Amino acid sequence: MGKTAIIYGSTTGNTESIANQIKTELSDSSVDILSIADTSIDEMKGYDNLILGTSTWGLGDLQDDWEGPCDELSQLGKQKVALFGLGDCMSYPDTFVDGMGQLYEAVKQSEAEVIGFTSSTAYDFDASVAQVEDEFVGLVIDEDNESDKTTGRISEWVESIKPLLS
Ligand SMILES: Cc1cc2nc3c(=O)[nH]c(=O)nc-3n(C[C@H](O)[C@H](O)[C@H](O)COP(=O)(O)O)c2cc1C
Repeated sequence: MGKTAIIYGSTTGNTESIANQIKTELSDSSVDILSIADTSIDEMKGYDNLILGTSTWGLGDLQDDWEGPCDELSQLGKQKVALFGLGDCMSYPDTFVDGMGQLYEAVKQSEAEVIGFTSSTAYDFDASVAQVEDEFVGLVIDEDNESDKTTGRISEWVESIKPLLS
């Protein structure tokens, strides 16, 4: 596997925890885990593969540390990008994991290829900007309501993206 980083923005630690679980599932000790609070776009450009994660705050807002860096994602080169998002489908059914949708819109403007879409049919929500037809643009985790499904969701998703990474 090429040079790979998992980069997260996390307010209460949930997204950071999922980043660590994704690394474990990738079974590659060379994978870097970075907080977006400490990572520049130039550093991001140095990786073959980026796995970018955000939670959603406010009503459909990006996690705070992604504000600013998100706009710079349009500068990414020919890299592989996979996205993961955390949200709460019970309390925020109309803005479910919208933050991940914002990352997707920014990466779409770059030369990078987004991989790792997932089916949205197993989730109970009303609206999400992270949804394209009946798919989410990445892995969706709901630690508030469905933490029992997290391990299985991560492992299935990581297996699906592994062959697609550079
Ligand atoms: C004040 C507040 C606003 C939130 N807004 C949303 C939202 O609009 N959409 C959503 O899906 N989740 C929302 N959430 C849920 C968080 O995204 C979720 O708890 C997540 O696991 C937090 O991850 P973090 O600790 O990595 O930041 C909100 C949570 C709080 C407390």
